[in-house]
Amino acid sequence: MAPPTSITLRQPDDWHAHLRDGPMLQACAVHTASQFARAIIMPNLVPPVTTVVEAKSYRERIRSAVPAGLAFEPLMTCYLTDGADPAELARGRREGVWVAAKLYPAHATTNSAHGVTSMDRIAPALEAMEKAGMPLLVHGEVTDADVDIFDRETVFLDRVLAPLLKRHQGLKVVLEHITTREGVAFVEAGGARVGGTITPHHLSYNRNALFKGGIRPHLYCLPIAKAEEHRLALRRAATAPGQTQFFLGTDTAPHTADTKECACGCAGIFNAPVAMQVYTQIFAEEGALDRLETFASLNGPRFYGLPVNEQRVTLHAAPLVAPERIDVANGDKSVVVFRPDAPVEWSY
Ligand code: NCD
Ligand code: ZN
Repeated sequence: MAPPTSITLRQPDDWHAHLRDGPMLQACAVHTASQFARAIIMPNLVPPVTTVVEAKSYRERIRSAVPAGLAFEPLMTCYLTDGADPAELARGRREGVWVAAKLYPAHATTNSAHGVTSMDRIAPALEAMEKAGMPLLVHGEVTDADVDIFDRETVFLDRVLAPLLKRHQGLKVVLEHITTREGVAFVEAGGARVGGTITPHHLSYNRNALFKGGIRPHLYCLPIAKAEEHRLALRRAATAPGQTQFFLGTDTAPHTADTKECACGCAGIFNAPVAMQVYTQIFAEEGALDRLETFASLNGPRFYGLPVNEQRVTLHAAPLVAPERIDVANGDKSVVVFRPDAPVEWSY
């Protein structure tokens, strides 16, 4: 049978995106809004988004950064701190502002200094979320300096997430940007109330790529890419027939080139302009193009209890066309766009 020359699917959503604020938001919003109907907006601004008022005003800034004519709905999240207020969570949910809340273990990643230091502290907030049916989105890494960076996700599952699920039996949880086969198995064992997002970059390369020919700052993100066996487990999870728990989350996380190409570079990969092209490439390589819509457009809305998108989009089998970088602040700075090593033969 001849290989397909196009694929049409319901418009996808991005269940994990960093759109930032100010000039970076102005530069980046269009790229996410061009591909996705909705996106879960990460709240790790400086300072973080912790109140309903801040979330509403951030949502307005996002809406005005999206060019007229592009239909795009930002889905707002609350950044949990040790002092997270259960009443603020419940109220924001009732008012249709919060779609979920985000757990960053303190100091796990970019802008997580205000993150949670112990799960006991947020137990009342989690109870309120459980009651309201509001999912908890988890950056699943321990932060202890004595845990090897490649083990931080698996150790988190045992030490933190398994007890948390036991304690909050009705809480819906998304293990975000999973990077290990243990992460895959944990999500599967959790049943319908547990979901997992998978990024285009973690499906594309393993940890060797970070050091190929020299250190590659633009492939550095957290959680860090793991060994090949883990990448293969992610590919199997995303493309498995009938799977319902894994869905698309790009973790697009722009940083200007100067803050990545330096002695202590930031974690985060900007993939929004190429996200659907790369996912499609991977599903094609796995012989699973017929399952792309489930991963990209159906499982996420089902997990969140939201309607699926009615709009259809088409990707064509044609070499990827995307800028190498995009300008920020009228060209004062730029952000490098993610590009896998192997060719991407799909365009959006
Ligand atoms: C993210 C960022 O830059 O905000 N960085 C990253 O490496 N993924 C934060 C995060 O999601 O960990
Ligand atoms: Zn992220």
